[in-house]
Amino acid sequence: MDDTISSGFPALRLRRLRQSPALRDLVRETHLRADQLVLPLFARPGRRVRIPVKAMPGVWQLSPDEVVRAAAQAQEAGVPAVLLFGIPERKDTRASGAYARRGIVQQTVRQLKREVPGLLVITDVCLCEYMSHGHCGVVRRDRHGARVLNDPTLPLLAQTALSHAEAGADLVAPSDMMDGRVRAIRQRLDTAGFAETPILAYAAKFASAFYGPFREAAESAPRFGDRRSYQMDPANGLEALREVALDIQEGADIVMVKPALAYLDIIHRVKTQFGYPTAAYAVSGEYAMIKAAAAQGWIDERAITLESLLAMRRAGADVLITYAAVEVARWLKTG
Ligand code: PBG
Repeated sequence: MDDTISSGFPALRLRRLRQSPALRDLVRETHLRADQLVLPLFARPGRRVRIPVKAMPGVWQLSPDEVVRAAAQAQEAGVPAVLLFGIPERKDTRASGAYARRGIVQQTVRQLKREVPGLLVITDVCLCEYMSHGHCGVVRRDRHGARVLNDPTLPLLAQTALSHAEAGADLVAPSDMMDGRVRAIRQRLDTAGFAETPILAYAAKFASAFYGPFREAAESAPRFGDRRSYQMDPANGLEALREVALDIQEGADIVMVKPALAYLDIIHRVKTQFGYPTAAYAVSGEYAMIKAAAAQGWIDERAITLESLLAMRRAGADVLITYAAVEVARWLKTG
């Protein structure tokens, strides 16, 4: 038999398994499912408030009643979890809104647990939205300038996580990147009777320009300086593994890599090295780029969104946090 691509036997013909949809389905290695998705939501005080976020079409700052509505719709579409951020009425230098018993997140969590049973509520644990200076920790100004202090920040984070758990949060997700925060939060939760509340740690969180649109959404841009003294240098992969190792040692149950698409190598290394449940956060800038190009008619929004998320899964992510979660869940249903 004449074989033009191989002199030996058997002929190397990888296209054999690509001939039909059924064959391709049969041997597909990676799958996207709605039950892997997490939808981030932004809560702000008020009633019937929906303020659109400029660089994120389809994303709003919502009052608690509207968060409940959006969360119920997400659940209806098949999205099992939301990740909650809060925009408080007032900010100060102690981030007191972050751990207030009747703070915006605490209030919204209570309402969600009451009105959308079965939905997993994850809360972002950070201080930047609640600090007047917009940094993720306590700031001290001295003759060397301003510094974000590590250890004085830890009790505030632990207190915030505890107040979320008391309100009914199913998981808490520290995103501040202080050293030792996972241990501080774990200890605080355990001694207060919340030993069963898991921690989803933003373990390898990079100081990324991809967070730009989020800072408008969460009103959390730093008033001075940047976050490079606590978030990671985008150039570093081995250090990301050290960050993840430390968070696991301190008690993290799920580890996150953030951003996602530009950091697929990190997702892969984290999953291969630790084998832990791994989350990828497709951040605001990733979402904005797809929305902007799609609005011009330059790309196929649905195909590109699904392909990007599939790539995160292929890299090793189990959990996908994305602003497109509801659309994605609907697309997966309609095939
Ligand atoms: C808070 C926080 C940020 C994001 C999630 N939690 C912003 C930041 O670190 O400045 C970014 C999320 C996104 O861009 O979608 N620390």
